[in-house]
Amino acid sequence: MTEMVRVSITSGVAVVTIDNPPVNALSPGVPEGVSAAIDRAERDPAVSAVLIMGAGRTFVAGADIKQLEEHAHGRSSSAPNLHGLLKQIEDCTKPVVMALHGTALGGGLELAMAGHYRVASPDAQAGQPEVNLGIIPGAEGTQRLPRLIGVAAAIDMLVSGRPVKAPEAARLGLFDKIIEGDLQSGGVAFALEASKYGKRHKTRERNEKLGTLQSNADLFASGREQARKTRRNQTAPLAAIDALEAAVALPFDEGCRKEREIAEQCLASEQARALIHAFFAERAVSKIRGISKDTRTYPIRRAAILGSGTMGGGIAMALANAGIAVIVKDSDQQALDRGMHTVRQNYEASVSKGRFTREVMDERLALILPQLTYEGFESVDLIIEAVFENMALKRQVFAEIDKIARPECILATNTSTLNIDEIADATVRPHMVVGTHFFSPAHVMRLLEIVRGSRTSNEVIATALALAKQLRKVGVVVGNCRGFVGNRMMLPYMREAHFLAEEGATPAQVDRALQDFGMAMGIFAVEDMGGIDLSWRVRHEYKHLEKPGERVPLVLEKLYHLGRLGQKSGAGWYRYEADRKPIPDPEVERLIEKTAKEAGIPRRAISDEEIIERCIYIMINEGARILEEGHAQRAGDIDTIYLAGYGFPAYRGGPMWYADTVGLDKILNRIRAFRWEPSSLLKRLVEEGNTFAGFDAARA
Ligand code: CAA
Ligand code: NAI
Repeated sequence: MTEMVRVSITSGVAVVTIDNPPVNALSPGVPEGVSAAIDRAERDPAVSAVLIMGAGRTFVAGADIKQLEEHAHGRSSSAPNLHGLLKQIEDCTKPVVMALHGTALGGGLELAMAGHYRVASPDAQAGQPEVNLGIIPGAEGTQRLPRLIGVAAAIDMLVSGRPVKAPEAARLGLFDKIIEGDLQSGGVAFALEASKYGKRHKTRERNEKLGTLQSNADLFASGREQARKTRRNQTAPLAAIDALEAAVALPFDEGCRKEREIAEQCLASEQARALIHAFFAERAVSKIRGISKDTRTYPIRRAAILGSGTMGGGIAMALANAGIAVIVKDSDQQALDRGMHTVRQNYEASVSKGRFTREVMDERLALILPQLTYEGFESVDLIIEAVFENMALKRQVFAEIDKIARPECILATNTSTLNIDEIADATVRPHMVVGTHFFSPAHVMRLLEIVRGSRTSNEVIATALALAKQLRKVGVVVGNCRGFVGNRMMLPYMREAHFLAEEGATPAQVDRALQDFGMAMGIFAVEDMGGIDLSWRVRHEYKHLEKPGERVPLVLEKLYHLGRLGQKSGAGWYRYEADRKPIPDPEVERLIEKTAKEAGIPRRAISDEEIIERCIYIMINEGARILEEGHAQRAGDIDTIYLAGYGFPAYRGGPMWYADTVGLDKILNRIRAFRWEPSSLLKRLVEEGNTFAGFDAARA
């Protein structure tokens, strides 16, 4: 055996345990270890069956993605290869039972499907999440899965990447039995039973659920349609369906060959490299200089929120959804009632969509305590302020809560633009003050920017990171600069889109080009959602920073004064009807033309390519400035912010990764051609022939 695989014999059953922390990935050594164990069990007359399980928190969570990454970048020629092992398991003359707990994902599920039986603990989940990495299952998963659960369910699992929970897996036929109580002893008993039964279930021979190409034609067609819609511009989901089709059309071995071919093509793709980068970038964000596993974190059991508006209500739901009891205080009874009404409405909507039951809703609502006073604030572990965006008001409430809260209570602000240090100065505990910048709607959006003030302690940052995990969000630590990271990059992007419109593109053309590029929404539609008044206020707040003679957005002013405030007023850059879909408005187009004419801005046809270059490269340039100023620790952090919070297409890896794929020299040339001031980091990286990924690697 290898160190990662151990075997013990219990009642004549060889219990093979895979022990490769943290998630028992199939790193080199694991398949070899399992193979040796099967070999030994086969030869040992005292063994009548084999039980394969995972040590620690989970069964096998997949191939080793590090190994896949090496292969995707052409740095290693050996892709993980499980084919020999899977055949050996399936051909074993003694029953091989897979005992699953935690998450059996990717290669983990593929391994499990080669067993003759699968038993699982009630909390186990199984899935083929490969599409999230831009690849398809490459270890016969596309061939065995439809044999076990049928084509329709297999399409769903492969295209969505969504894992199924134990009860559903049992219903689908993926799990043979759910074992309550101790998984190993239940698995051993099952394996002994199976050894008496004699007949082996070889998955590859189970064709009864497969059907034919003809009988599945509609399913494949609708699966492809679903894939194009839900995973726009992505190649892997469609490739997975091609491989499924091969399972139906071809004998098992030929289907496997076809799968391997398709899997190799996917792994060699730009999309796979980008998505694998996104996977590791998201996991790197919690690795912060000065903070280790030993850094103390404060337990967050009870919290309080100031302000029950858009953000206060959403944050309250985010906390309650994670089981944290939360007081919501507003200064105005009507605002409080309105806020709680919205919270209830949101929960009702989730119940009616079947996301959770009414009982769950009641439990969550019971955790939220609305009030007008500071009662109970003295015993909470965390206070999040979400009052109006006004420095004097924020300083006032921070001074108030500073007097009431326990010394170990963290004081957080949800400000989106104000200086954290100035807010912290209103307290005698600036080390306990931090920015927790949630995104709207706060109970849905995954991103949480954690803003470090100049005196915020490492313990508080570590706690905020732990809180993000507890809330199932991605917490990214950012510096205390104007707009922090996400909004700081979005402002020049939005401004550039305005300029493009003034020069001749329509808002609809800009938005379509951005959506074709992969953005979840076009920037004008985004601005209409946030409110033209918000953009106007932000611009005017920072007007003093505009340099004399600097170009400023002109149409924005006009829209604001016309009361076209976006979705909320039924019209902004677009007009809106009841369904809130943006409808291009000739009136706005005339307004833009007139404004351009008055300002002497020549109008011309603008290509989609120019739209993308100007909108995306200006973000990249700002991202590079943020990096050189140290307001983000890694380029990968910026990518994660844009993927988790701004609808940037994951298959492009985030703006900074995308910049690397375009070539930093090309980007720098275009920046110069557009007469923008290039960031000095960008210039330096081009001089060195380096990339943002290289910049990150050198600092890791
Ligand atoms: N390979 C290598 N490392 C992995 C890994 C994998 N398959 N899965 C997780 N890890 C690492 C993470 O990078 C992280 O490492 P650090 O602590 O150094 O940052 C650590 O394991 C813990 O991961 P998480 O922080 O994500 O832990 P979690 O408890 O929140 O989630 C999980 C656990 C659900 C398994 C999640 O990590 C996950 O979804 N992993 C990816 C699973 C996956 O995509 N599997 C398919 C792989 S592709 C494949 O198998 C192809 C094939 O057909 C052969
Ligand atoms: P909002 O206007 O919807 O709600 C603010 C609430 O605070 C109101 O209910 C008001 O009555 C209450 N309030 C005012 N003074 C108070 C006091 N002294 N004590 C208790 N409550 C008081 O504002 P919104 O949009 O929720 O924003 C709150 C904060 O979150 C702001 O700092 C804003 O910049 C920030 N933010 C807003 C985002 C958004 O999309 N709306 C996104 C991210 C951050």
